[in-house]
Formats: sequence, C-alpha cells, structure tokens
Amino acid sequence: MKVTVVGAGNVGATCANVLAFKEIADEVVMLDIKEGVSEGKAMDMMQTAQLLSMDTRIIGCTNDYAKTANSDVVVITSGIPRKPGMTREELLGVNAGIVKGVAENILKYSPNTIIVCISNPMDTMTYLALKSLGLPKNRVIGMGGALDSSRFKYFLSQAIGCHSSEVEGFVIGGHGDTTMIPMTRFATYKGLPVSNFLSAEKIEEVAKSTMVGGATLTGLLGTSAWYAPGAAGAAVVEAILHDQKKMIPCSVLLEGEYGQNDICIGVPVILGKNGVEKIVELPLNDEEKAKFEASAKSVQGNINTLKELKLV
Ligand code: LAC
Repeated sequence: MKVTVVGAGNVGATCANVLAFKEIADEVVMLDIKEGVSEGKAMDMMQTAQLLSMDTRIIGCTNDYAKTANSDVVVITSGIPRKPGMTREELLGVNAGIVKGVAENILKYSPNTIIVCISNPMDTMTYLALKSLGLPKNRVIGMGGALDSSRFKYFLSQAIGCHSSEVEGFVIGGHGDTTMIPMTRFATYKGLPVSNFLSAEKIEEVAKSTMVGGATLTGLLGTSAWYAPGAAGAAVVEAILHDQKKMIPCSVLLEGEYGQNDICIGVPVILGKNGVEKIVELPLNDEEKAKFEASAKSVQGNINTLKELKLV
C-alpha cells in the first residue's frame, strides 16, 4: 500500500516517519516544493531502516507528482504554519491557494485516493479540497479531532496522574482555539466518568488547556507543533489503510447530521478502507448543542470567505 505525504516540513516529515516506522504502508512518498528537502529527509529516514528494523520504502521528490501515482491515501500538510500569537484562521488566505493546487495535482495521478487534510485552517481546507475536487464525501477527511482528542487525553492523564492509554475522551467541533469542544461529560478513566477523580474546576482547566494546546506549543516552539499533529495524521491513515473501523473524531462533510449542512467540522466517525464509513451522532445535551452550533457558525464564516474568494 502506498501513501503520499505532501509537504515535507515538520508535520509532513513526522507523519511520513511514523507511517514508515510503524510499517503502516509499504511505500511512503514525500513531496515538497523545496528542492532537495524531501529527498534528503527520505534518505535520512531510510538510513534508520536497519537500526529500527523497518522495511518501508521512503521516497522523496521535488514537486514531481508522477512519483505519487496510485497512492491509496494522500496526506496534505502544505502551507505555512502559524507563528506565536496567530490563529489558524489567519492562515486561510495563503494556504487556500496552496492546498487547492496540491489537491488538483494529486487527483491527476491518484484518481481513487482518499485525502487526509492537515493544513490549517484544517476544517476549511478539508471543505476546500472536497468541494474543489468534487469528490464523494467519504474520501476527504480532516484530521483535527484526532489530534485534539490526543491532547485532551494527555491533559486528562496529567491531571489524574495516570497513563494516556488509560483514559478515553474525544473532542468535537472546529479545530480552533475557541471552536473545539472537549467532551468532558463523556471522558472516562478506566471506564468511570472522570468526575469521579477530578473536581469540576480541574476538568474545566483540562478542557481549556486542550483548546489552546496548539497555541501553547506555538508559543514554546516559535512555530506550530509537529510530533502530535504528524502522529495524528498517521493514525487516521492507519485506520483507513488497515480497514480498522476505528471511531476517531475527524472533520467531515455534514449533511443534516448534528443539525448542520454543507460544512466540514469535527465529529466522531468510523474510519475504514472506504474512508469515512459512518458518522456517529452523539446524544448532545442543550449546552453541548449550543457549543457545537457556535463552533459551526465560526467554521462557516471561513467557508464563506472561500466562497467570496471564488475558491469553491
Ligand atoms: C496544531 C496545529 C498543527 O494544533 O493545528 O498543533
């Protein structure tokens, strides 16, 4: 099975490295516009093959879309990352043109591929790729919820003092500092609601830390994070390629679900060989419904900008 990662920056290269190291695909192609970068990173990764007992073939190329031909899944990470103080939404103007061009080139060589979108603002870029390519909605997926949910589990585990794998929790809504919704009511530790172990104030603190999780890292690093975003992209690819039927929150096109239409936003979905195989509708209470509506309104604002720019 073949996966292409477009953009060999921090996030793209990390995603490719996880895909290769975990042998999720047989072949991983990295494509970048900067001459030599993906070739160099691919060679560097291949030189870990013996050390890590890894059999994946990793290929780097500069803008040569022919090398991406017949990819089963393509991950798009292209565009600029945010700098400290910036919102993901501020990247829209620059990244929209880049993502649209990349998506069109990809489809020429891999007409049956499933696209996983990481570029920010992620929900809007997912909508852009889906609409500008005219693909069926199961084949274009934004990975934001996978990342935000992993951060939520990290903050929960830190508060409880346990391992991340011992907690369950997920985040829905837009992949934005104010739009994501950590579902605290459904979060559990060893099957028990986290409210058995944490005070209401502490749970609120965990939710807030999750929402600004990306911004906190941007402040520390001077650019946006890459280990968790790359690994979240790889987890989404793995669920699809290996037909895992896992439930992972992702940004997908809603057509009536959650009372929303013509918008890509994060909700739990079942991922398998066909991409999005099912959208899972959660029994939200009134407060959660109101938060989801506000989140959708904000994402819709960005989608309207795409329409004004005549990109979709
Ligand atoms: C983050 C970026 C990748 O949340 O959106 O770190």
